[in-house]
Amino acid sequence: MLILGIETSCDETAAALVADGKVILSNVIASQIDLHAKFGGVVPEIAARQHVEAIGYVIKEAIESAGKTAPEIDAIAVTSKRGLVGSLIVGVAAAKSLAYALRIPLVGIHHIEGHIFANILSHPEMPIPHVCLTVSGGHTMLIYVKDLCKYEVLGDTLDDSAGEALDKIAKFLGLGYPGGPVIDMLSTQGNKSAFNFPRPILRSKRLDFSFSGLKTAVINTTRHTDYHVPDIAASFQEAIVDVLVSKTMKAVLQSVSGAKSGSGTKKKVSAISVTGGVAANRRLRKVFSDRCQQEGLEVFFPQALLCTDNAAMIAAAGYARLRYGEVAGLDLDAIPNAPLESAI
Ligand code: KG4
Ligand code: ZN
Repeated sequence: MLILGIETSCDETAAALVADGKVILSNVIASQIDLHAKFGGVVPEIAARQHVEAIGYVIKEAIESAGKTAPEIDAIAVTSKRGLVGSLIVGVAAAKSLAYALRIPLVGIHHIEGHIFANILSHPEMPIPHVCLTVSGGHTMLIYVKDLCKYEVLGDTLDDSAGEALDKIAKFLGLGYPGGPVIDMLSTQGNKSAFNFPRPILRSKRLDFSFSGLKTAVINTTRHTDYHVPDIAASFQEAIVDVLVSKTMKAVLQSVSGAKSGSGTKKKVSAISVTGGVAANRRLRKVFSDRCQQEGLEVFFPQALLCTDNAAMIAAAGYARLRYGEVAGLDLDAIPNAPLESAI
C-alpha cells in the first residue's frame, strides 16, 4: 500500500511516499529555518504563508523522486492534530483536495503519534509495549505505548519543552537558531560540571517535566559570574539530559513493577524509544545507552532524518491507522491542542 504523508504542523513543509508502512521511497523536507533564524524562533504567520508557497512543490517532488505518479498513491495521511493552527490548516487542505481528486482514503494523524512511528519505522524490531520519550521543540512527553496506536500519557511538561529551553538559552547567548544542535556541538568543548544547574522536579515521583526554572538559573548565572560559553552550554545540556534520562528510567521502573495506572496494570517494559528533534543530541544518546546497558534495557533512537519533523513518520502512522479501518471524511479539521489520547 503506497501512502503519501504530509506534515506541516510547525516550520517544515514535508511530504513523503512510504510503501506498506515500512519502506521510505521519498522523504522531502523544505526547511524554513533561515526565515525564522533572524527572529530566534518560529513566527507562526511566516510559517503558515511559507507552507502555502511550498506545499505544492514539496508534494510533487515527493511523488517524482520516488519514481511514482499520483494515480499510484493508495491513501493520504496528514498531520491534523497538535501544532500551529495556521500551519496545520495548509497541510490538511492540501491532503483533502488530493484525496478528493484522486478518490482515495484520507487519515488524520496526531503529530506526536508521528514521532512515535518515526522510531517504529527506523526499528521495526522494536518491542511493544515500550516507554517512549518524545522530546522536541514543541513537546516533552513520556508515553506508555501499550500497542500499535494505543497510548497512555505518563508525563508532560508543565511549561517549556526541552527543545524550547535549548532554543531560548541559545538565543540568549547569541548562538543562533535552532539552539539544540549548537549547544550539542559547543558542549563537546566545555566542562559539564562547571556549573551545578538545578534538575527541576527530579526527586518527585511525578513523571512531569519543568524547564523554565532551569532556564532562569542559567540566565541568572551569566549575569552574576564570569563564564566560558562552552562550560555554560555543557552544564545546561547535562542538567536537561539528566532530567530526561532519570524520569524515563523512573517511568520504566513503574511499568516493570506492574504499577496500577489509571487504565489498569501495565505490562513489563524492556525497551525505551527516544524520539523528536532533541533525540539527535549526542550526549542524550550516550547517557541513555550507558544507563540502559546497566539496567539491561534496550534503547532505540530514530535515524537522523527521522528525528526532526518529517512526513515519512506520518505516512507510517497512517498505514497502521488505515489497517485498523480508520478513515477521515472531507470534514477533517486541524486541531492545534488535541491531546494524544484523542488519537486513540
Ligand atoms: O521535532 P522537531 O523538528 O520539531 C518539533 O516538533 O518541535 O524538533 C526541533 C527541536 C528544536 O528545539 C531543536 O533545537 C532540537 O529539536 N534539536 C536538538 C538537536 N537537533 C535538533 N536538540 C539537541 N541536540 C540536537 N542535536
Ligand atoms: Zn515534532
